[in-house]
Amino acid sequence: MFSPEDYASIFNARADAYHEAMRRWPDARDAEFTTLFKGIALKTGMHVIDVPSGGGYLARYLPNDISLHHLETSELFARLFKEEAHSGSKHPLSLCELEKLPEPDNSTDLACSLAGLHHIEDKTPLFKELFRVLKPGGVTRIADAHSESATAAFLDGWMGNHNSMGHHGWYLNESTLDTLREIGFTDVTAVNEEYHWVFNSEQEAAAYCKRLFGIDLASTEETEAAIRELLGFDTLENGQVGMRWSLYYLSAYKPV
Ligand SMILES: C[S@@+](CC[C@H](N)C(=O)[O-])C[C@H]1O[C@@H](n2cnc3c(N)ncnc32)[C@H](O)[C@@H]1O
Repeated sequence: MFSPEDYASIFNARADAYHEAMRRWPDARDAEFTTLFKGIALKTGMHVIDVPSGGGYLARYLPNDISLHHLETSELFARLFKEEAHSGSKHPLSLCELEKLPEPDNSTDLACSLAGLHHIEDKTPLFKELFRVLKPGGVTRIADAHSESATAAFLDGWMGNHNSMGHHGWYLNESTLDTLREIGFTDVTAVNEEYHWVFNSEQEAAAYCKRLFGIDLASTEETEAAIRELLGFDTLENGQVGMRWSLYYLSAYKPV
């Protein structure tokens, strides 16, 4: 049986391979990141947080005149971020616990959380923290797999069976919206967004997924075949290869 503590140690062990994939194919998940800002007017001086941020991947999608604070729980991700030249950039990364974010009350315009919450069974403490740090009128955008999606089935099925650490997620669904409303959020909505992770070839997609997901019990060829069968590839207009992916994007506001 998986516990959130298992995930904390898993990410401390394999953050380097995840980070390598993100650095080697920096554009692959562009659609996933930019969808976080859909319908949001990004304005000079806005304060944005990203939690959990991994190795600080959101910065490249935001202009420099926005204040972004990456918040991360894994020491290895934080070290990898700091080792890079851009660590002196104006978008810092801080280590913290999800139940205790370092931001002051009512300080944040936009709180993002991408692909991290399926590792956490009880999301209420983090949601309460997001509510506390948001300014009145501020918004949180949370994206992770829906519990009934092909994404979740792939992660807990084939991927978990070909990763010696296994995989079990506590995914998002309609009840997550109720939890946000109970905390006090308003205008709580959700959309399942379907898009592609983009590569030059199917083999590249498989090489990326092997690193990102720590798939150590299957070859690149076997991984490519599994992705083709369980998720699917499309040829994009520019000739690149799109690996089908989807996440459930939640939007919730702190009342004014
Ligand atoms: C799949 S990565 C997502 C990182 C980044 N947001 C992205 O989209 O690439 C999962 C993140 O969740 C964090 N994490 C995993 N399990 C956790 C746990 N049990 N408690 C706190 N954070 C955890 C990891 O440190 C990592 O930052």
